[in-house]
Amino acid sequence: MTTEQPHPDQQPMHWNDMYLLGYTPIDEVHEEFVGLVGRMQQAADADLAGLLAEFTRHCEEHFGMENRWMVENDFPPRDCHIDEHAAVLASVHEVGELFAKGELGADVVRDLVEHLADWFPKHADQLDSALAHWMAKKRLGGKPVVLRRGLQLR
Ligand SMILES: [Fe+2]
Ligand SMILES: [Fe+2]
Repeated sequence: MTTEQPHPDQQPMHWNDMYLLGYTPIDEVHEEFVGLVGRMQQAADADLAGLLAEFTRHCEEHFGMENRWMVENDFPPRDCHIDEHAAVLASVHEVGELFAKGELGADVVRDLVEHLADWFPKHADQLDSALAHWMAKKRLGGKPVVLRRGLQLR
C-alpha cells in the first residue's frame, strides 16, 4: 500500500550549523545532501521518483569525491569509510531501480529516506569529520576552525 502524502510524524532534515565540519568543499556537498533528504521527506508520492534520481546522482558525486580525496591524500582509515559509502549507494541504487520499475512502493522509498536521515549525522560526525580535518591539514596547514552559531562560551 502506498500513501499519497509524506509521513506526518517525521521531522524533515534542515541544514544547520551543527553539521559544519570546517572544510568548505565537504560542508557545501553536505548542505546539498541534507537539503535533498529534507525534500524527499516532504515530497508527495508523485515527486519521489524524480527526487530519488536527483539524490542518487548527488550521492555518486558526493561519495566519489570523498573517496577520491581519501585515496589521493593517503587518508589512513579510508577503507571502512569507502565501504560505508558503497553500502549506502548500493541500497539507494537498488531501491531506486525497483521503484522506477514499479516493483516496490513509495513506503519503501520513505523507509530508505528515514534511514538516510538517521545515518547521515553519525557518518558525518564519525567519518567525514576526520576526513575534513585531514584535508584541511593537508591543504591549509592546520585543523579547521569551526564557527557554529548558538554556542555559548562559559
Ligand atoms: Fe560526506
Ligand atoms: Fe563520507
